[in-house]
Amino acid sequence: MNNDNNIFPIFDRMLARADKERLLGQRGVMLWFTGLSGSGKSTVAVALERELHRRGRLCRLLDGDNIRTGINAGLGFSADDRRENIRRIAEVGKLFVDTGIITLAAFVSPTEELRTLARDIIGAADFKEIFVATPLEECERRDVKGLYARARRGEVKNFTGISAPFEAPQNPALVLDTTDTPVEESVGKVLALLEEAGVLTATTQY
Ligand code: ADX
Repeated sequence: MNNDNNIFPIFDRMLARADKERLLGQRGVMLWFTGLSGSGKSTVAVALERELHRRGRLCRLLDGDNIRTGINAGLGFSADDRRENIRRIAEVGKLFVDTGIITLAAFVSPTEELRTLARDIIGAADFKEIFVATPLEECERRDVKGLYARARRGEVKNFTGISAPFEAPQNPALVLDTTDTPVEESVGKVLALLEEAGVLTATTQY
């Protein structure tokens, strides 16, 4: 126990993750959706959460625009702010995962460095990276929020895909392209991933 800062963690007296998972009959996991703005991350995550809930699974969805008006209000899109954004989300997400909850995070998280940061905080065994690989042309055609047009005019700085980089994940657990794929089909693919990962039954110990 580290008492250097007069902090006395009580982890040894707290109920363990496996206790929560037994209660819920499922395992905690982080489904980390990464992709360009407008790629369909939130749409798939929202539909997936609904379907899992319908099947009696406890989920928590963390979504870019919501988090940026709450815990991460005040953070922008510089490299440093994006790192702090992802760091806090990963720390919060870990709390949900450790409670046995199927946790969905939908953030652009545009670089390997950022996604590695999230994976390291959450732990690789609990981290499933889902690359929503809808191409830039399609995201820009949709331009749901009008931000691509504004970024092209130079009114939004550091806009991912236009004036800031997006690095495709090297080894995602799943790749989705929502260009011509109905949302139910994408949801089905993530459900299959969850089945395969054995998340839908509780484990007994860690
Ligand atoms: S991240 O890069 O730090 O992971 P995050 O997912 O939280 O980004 O937020 C992305 C959302 O913020 C986008 O969907 C878009 O609506 C909005 N946004 C505003 N400015 C930018 C920008 N410069 N780059 C990317 N997204 C932006």
